[in-house]
Amino acid sequence: MSALGNLIIMLILSVLNGNCAAEAETNCGKLEERLLYRKDIVTEPAEYPWIGLLFQRKGQKFRNAGCNVVIVGESHVLTTASCVQGLNTQPGSIAVRLGIWDETHQPGEPYICNDKGFCVPGPVQYLVDAITVHPLADKDTGINDIAILQLSQRINMTTYIQPVCLQPTLEPASWTSMDFHYGGFEEADVRKVKDMAITISRQVCTTETATPPPDNQFCGLPRIRASTYKGAPLMGINVENDVPRSFYLVGILVRTKDVGQVFLFFQDIKPLRRWIMDNTHSASS
Ligand SMILES: *[C@@H]1O[C@H](CO)[C@@H](O)[C@H](O)[C@H]1NC(C)=O
Repeated sequence: MSALGNLIIMLILSVLNGNCAAEAETNCGKLEERLLYRKDIVTEPAEYPWIGLLFQRKGQKFRNAGCNVVIVGESHVLTTASCVQGLNTQPGSIAVRLGIWDETHQPGEPYICNDKGFCVPGPVQYLVDAITVHPLADKDTGINDIAILQLSQRINMTTYIQPVCLQPTLEPASWTSMDFHYGGFEEADVRKVKDMAITISRQVCTTETATPPPDNQFCGLPRIRASTYKGAPLMGINVENDVPRSFYLVGILVRTKDVGQVFLFFQDIKPLRRWIMDNTHSASS
């Protein structure tokens, strides 16, 4: 590794550690305000550290299953039910990679550097012990399209691997017509990307897409990114003492529909919070 690469890592680590100390009271939803207002569409490596990728076993290897996962507990991640359809009985056939920034990076390397000396930690792979699909999930209607994956080990939290918050500090009266953040892996870029989406009313979504969203789902319009894999988290911001403090989970992407304009369909997390908490054994976020 080049000296410049080392320097960059040290700079990244010192900046990140500084921020961690300032946010010591929050152990979920890590947020750095400076990153909120940038026009970047690619995340920094430690941004949205709750997003990982689902892998499926093919022989001796694991291949990218094209689904995002979201860390919500000490050993649990969320994804969509459709991402694990048919796999409930064989959790051993899937794995998740956490702390991942570039989809092509392989686990096992402490750091991966490019030819410009820019380095990021390698992803960490966790095997899955149990898959809990929502009991009311229905693959025909798409209702309650959500599943909890229990990992075979507790997650070793790092700057690059951390949970999102499940609960807002102040519950908005409605999700409609809000500007939320979302991010994840997608088809068009190997890196973890980010964007904003504005949520629209059920009526307009139904009229425009000719598809009424199932109960507990709502629609949003992306600002730029439209090809994120399923499971991408939609996130709101907890503001405390006039400072944006943390991200909480609003929804996860379950479907997109392109009718000239791309519409994103999100599974609503609010009505499922109790179920998620009960199944991840965390008393609160
Ligand atoms: C987590 O950390 C422990 C202790 O350092 C280690 O034994 C374990 O292998 C780590 N887990 C993973 C998946 O890297």
